Amino acid sequence: MSVMSAMPASAAQANIAGMRLAATCVNCHAFLADATSPVADKAFGDLSGWPKQTILDKLQAYRRMPNKGSATVMHQLVKGYSEDELLMIADYFSSLPSPAKK
Ligand code: HEC
Repeated sequence: MSVMSAMPASAAQANIAGMRLAATCVNCHAFLADATSPVADKAFGDLSGWPKQTILDKLQAYRRMPNKGSATVMHQLVKGYSEDELLMIADYFSSLPSPAKK
């Protein structure tokens, strides 16, 4: 088994759904793969390789925030996703190699 195939096929498939959902997020939170692109170096930060639970905790905290006087966009954005979708998104980002471990 090679290093590249460490993820079982079923997990890889589940992650495709997460990847689709995460496509919105990476407009602002850059992918590791985009590290050389001009938009990668932005304040929002790359979520690649973050612990799944950390991402989920933050997303759920945003969801509980009131609409006024909270975060800039995240508290509004996250309300558009179901719990399952947030889980898939967190799972997807945590499965990506973290830039620090590259
Ligand atoms: C329009 C740009 C934009 C999009 C799209 C976006 N974010 Fe964010 N994100 C931000 C900003 C700005 C912050 C800082 C908090 C705030 O001001 O809302 C943030 C903060 C975060 C944080 C906390 C980061 C930290 O350091 O604590 C997480 C986690 C996060 N976003 C995840 C996501 C996920 C998952 C998605 C896709 C569902 C997403 N974001 C989509 C702009 C965006």
